[in-house]
Amino acid sequence: MTTGNAHQFSGPLYYGGDYNPEQWDESVWFEDVALMREAGVNLVTLGVFSWANIEIADGVYEFGWLDRIIELLHANGIGIDLATATASPPAWLLKNHPEMASVTQEGIRLAHGGRQNYCISSPVYKAKSTALAAKLAERYGSHPAIKAWHVNNEYGCHNPMCFCDISAVAWREWLQIKYGTLHSLNFAWGTHFWSQRYHDWSEINPPRQTPMGTSPNPTMMLDFHRFGNHQILELYKSERDAIRASGAKQPITTNFMSMKHFRYLNYFEWAKEVDFVSTDHYLISADPLSHVEMAFEADITRGFAEGKPWLLMEHSTSAVNWQDVNYAKTDGQLFRNSIGHIARGSNGAMFFQWRASISGSEKFHSALVPHAGTNTRNWRTVVELGNKVKRLEAVSGEATKPAKIAVVFDYDSWWALSQRNLPSTDIDYPDLVHEWYAALYDLGARVDFITTGFTREKLEQYELVLLPMTYLLNDADESALIEYAKNGGSLVTSYFTGISDENDHVKLGGYGGRLVRDAYGVFVEEFAPQSPDAQLTLDNGLVASHWQQWATSKDAESVIRFTEGPAEGFVAMAKKWIGRKPSWYLGTRLSPESNVAFFGTVLRELGIETAGGSGVEIIQRGDLTFVIDHNQNTVDWS
Ligand code: GLA
Repeated sequence: MTTGNAHQFSGPLYYGGDYNPEQWDESVWFEDVALMREAGVNLVTLGVFSWANIEIADGVYEFGWLDRIIELLHANGIGIDLATATASPPAWLLKNHPEMASVTQEGIRLAHGGRQNYCISSPVYKAKSTALAAKLAERYGSHPAIKAWHVNNEYGCHNPMCFCDISAVAWREWLQIKYGTLHSLNFAWGTHFWSQRYHDWSEINPPRQTPMGTSPNPTMMLDFHRFGNHQILELYKSERDAIRASGAKQPITTNFMSMKHFRYLNYFEWAKEVDFVSTDHYLISADPLSHVEMAFEADITRGFAEGKPWLLMEHSTSAVNWQDVNYAKTDGQLFRNSIGHIARGSNGAMFFQWRASISGSEKFHSALVPHAGTNTRNWRTVVELGNKVKRLEAVSGEATKPAKIAVVFDYDSWWALSQRNLPSTDIDYPDLVHEWYAALYDLGARVDFITTGFTREKLEQYELVLLPMTYLLNDADESALIEYAKNGGSLVTSYFTGISDENDHVKLGGYGGRLVRDAYGVFVEEFAPQSPDAQLTLDNGLVASHWQQWATSKDAESVIRFTEGPAEGFVAMAKKWIGRKPSWYLGTRLSPESNVAFFGTVLRELGIETAGGSGVEIIQRGDLTFVIDHNQNTVDWS
């Protein structure tokens, strides 16, 4: 059952966070709701890790505490995003079903004691989590305090893949559906290589640890990412459908992790299965450009949501507890973070968590109510932010203004590039995408994110489409991009784009396939990867590193060449009018400053307007224009 994004936000922006009342004596709950009212909290996510407190033994439920807290929140006008409580299976379930625990690539079965320990293909986990979701939906589905359903939590965060024997069976079934015949599978995986040819389905196992110095078949590994994504999505759908089947009418979501290095779930696909997109975002606090990374993640989340409003389900009021040095947020930083997310489409600002825990692994994670209580910088900021969020209510349900530039983000390419045996270990997909984004951010250019599987309509919404290392391109997408450029669109295409097809088979006759070889007329005959420390100058003065290639251009309007290195004199950049407008090919990795110079030229030539820049964001959402200065705290709230 697909719920199909039916939900449109209405009412106020949401403000609040994860609430774990089971960690506290009930007497504290009364203070909680009073403080929530003081801060303007109107939504809490309840029960994320409560399985062991709701189902205390197989089929034995203790709902009393949950009934009481739901009533208390309701009586105080606080809405509930009710979790299905399935994020972390209880000890009794793993004890009864030890085979349910996840197994690593090296064959280690993981122990209870952390969280989220289950095999993503476990029928037991699926049945038990679905049953709990159904039970909660039957009991609370018609309760007026429930505003949304929060299925599970951050799927795949700790268990994106499992290599156990149960997974092996599910994996073979998935492959049989995908390929139909072993012949097709052998072709796709290129199994004539290294004597890998399969003669019976039962010979295929998950890509477990292979002998020293070797890696699993790359296409098998790519498929295993696709399989993992599929299995976890099935878990989500099973819970979601159980909620719907109970008659509950509230919108259903699950919180994504829009974070730079979480690659395992294809959120463009997932977004089609939720009623509204929600995500979590935590700053890497040591990164001086963490606000740029944050803007990226907010923008890509808006891309998952296809431009519609979404919800920031978690961020932190101050420090987290899981980085090397957990820097506290500086004065004003929280406002800029929360409001920045709202400007980019979040229908509120939610946090992990309401009250800082006194025990457990997350006891030093910041919260809305800190250990030191309410006479604190933290609490005063929380109350002030609650007021600010309320004042932005006019944008609730409104979309952020779409951009003129689209960045293609492709999970298949990321999955293929996250493996070994590439021309260089410095090929880093998210790094290059983020570097391009950072340059555009610096220039004050806004972007939307789109994914592969292009339609003509989608591409034609944009004046400029960027392809940073879109390594896998199937025939249809390659044709769509060429048509787009021929019909008046502009492209910027990086090196290592269009190298392979959807099976990760290299396209012959010049790297980059029809797009690079035929449309751009750039013939890439050999790669010449370089050290990240190499400083490669180009004949227009720009500086690059990491990558060169022996490339020549047939008929580009202008060509920039390397002035040093093994590919000295060969094409580093080419500008070509594929259609009525110029497109650019970038055969190297420019330095941050050179990226700004390069994209600055592109924007000028195309006449694409910018606003703000150099750390100042200017974003239109609904009738409001948000101006956020990350350099200094200069925004006037009067
Ligand atoms: C994630 C989880 C939360 C909490 C935070 C800590 O976002 O969903 O339960 O662990 O991280 O930053």
